[in-house]
Amino acid sequence: MLITIADILSPGEIEEVRATLGSMRFEDGRSTAGWSAKLVKDNEQAREGAALTLLRERVTKAIQSNEVFQLAARPKALTPLLFGRYGRGRQYGSHVDNPLMDGVRTDVSFTLFLADPEAYEGGELVIESVSGEEEIKLPAGHLVAYDSTSLHRVAPVTHGERLVAVGWAQSYIRDSAKRELLFDLETARRNLFAQAGKTPEFDLIAKSSANLFRMWAEV
Ligand code: NI
Repeated sequence: MLITIADILSPGEIEEVRATLGSMRFEDGRSTAGWSAKLVKDNEQAREGAALTLLRERVTKAIQSNEVFQLAARPKALTPLLFGRYGRGRQYGSHVDNPLMDGVRTDVSFTLFLADPEAYEGGELVIESVSGEEEIKLPAGHLVAYDSTSLHRVAPVTHGERLVAVGWAQSYIRDSAKRELLFDLETARRNLFAQAGKTPEFDLIAKSSANLFRMWAEV
């Protein structure tokens, strides 16, 4: 499942994050890539340090407190966020993400866009699948989450600067199809409640949703 989520960060928060990143030091992004991804990864990442730790905390909290993200990813654990910068000519060629990072199995990959789309050209996240390719470039503060199993790339930036936070979630629900089923069921449950309140039908869907989660959850 691929899902985009709006307004993870408010415009004020985006300004703060950008200002913080503007004062931080960046290094070659290849330090966190696997050996084959190193061949195609060409970006910069914010360097480890106290400023990065604080920034991570704030942005991770904003992502984790988003209800749609919780329902779509069912996160059990997140990897430490990486803050990536792609100036002109930078890109990240086709690759699959490492299956384990910092002891976290990567089930869901996500990118939080931090630059305004008008501020750079190129730099689309391209997700490859058997049905074709999907190009994603979202407004600042919006996030896309997708299955970590997919091949994907970042198109070359031809003008301006692409700024993103990327991270990975280990999900309580490992299988993507099951995650999507639970997401749909839970969305239907909430909509039903909004339309008609706590009806017997609502209770049955609530029961099914909770019990499927219980059946499938890896804790
Ligand atoms: Ni990747």
